Amino acid sequence: MFDNIAHRYDFLNHFLSLGIDIYWRKKAIAFLSAFKPKFIMDMATGTGDFAFEALSLRPEKIIAYDLSLGMIERGRNKSIEKGVSTIVEFIKGDSEKMPFEDNMFDAMTVGFGVRNFENLKQGLSEMLRVLKPKGKLVILEIGKPKNPLITPLFKLYFHYIAPGIGRLFSKDHRAYTYLPESVAAFPEGNDFVQNIERHWI
Ligand SMILES: C[S@@+](CC[C@H](N)C(=O)[O-])C[C@H]1O[C@@H](n2cnc3c(N)ncnc32)[C@H](O)[C@@H]1O
Repeated sequence: MFDNIAHRYDFLNHFLSLGIDIYWRKKAIAFLSAFKPKFIMDMATGTGDFAFEALSLRPEKIIAYDLSLGMIERGRNKSIEKGVSTIVEFIKGDSEKMPFEDNMFDAMTVGFGVRNFENLKQGLSEMLRVLKPKGKLVILEIGKPKNPLITPLFKLYFHYIAPGIGRLFSKDHRAYTYLPESVAAFPEGNDFVQNIERHWI
């Protein structure tokens, strides 16, 4: 599915979120600034925007890891255009089985990714395995609004308008219908934190 929409992914991300996704990634990366991580993995990196944002932390290396070759190829081209391909290295692979040793990374980021894992438990276990014992994990995900006045507008936009625009530009009928479905099905906020604690602790 992500191979199919890779050519339109960046444009639709920024267009459908009115650019807020850029601000969210910046805000999420700021959580890591105090820890000065040197070796970072951006899991489910897609076209690499979260990995590029992590460059502000001045790490030695960022592994940008994703299952979709189409997304990775876009990301790799972007890293060459930005002149950062020696620091940001794109690698294709599955979260469920990673070709990395235990305790390798000081920090890991996942932007809009965990929701898509086929086997969440296995993905989380692998992430824990490759993170150093005091490593930091930052997960950025889409939630649902708490304000009852905003909820109907959000539903209208997220369930009908955004999928329509997504279909129109990406020509993929499934991907942007899957987006609200996957958000609705995924545990958010504290529920997800508890989920991680159950698997990790
Ligand atoms: C919505 S995109 C997020 C891209 C990027 N992180 C961002 O901030 O825009 C989700 C990505 O998760 C990847 N993905 C889904 N399942 C995966 C898995 N099991 N292992 C690695 N990547 C996966 C997809 O290929 C896709 O590129």
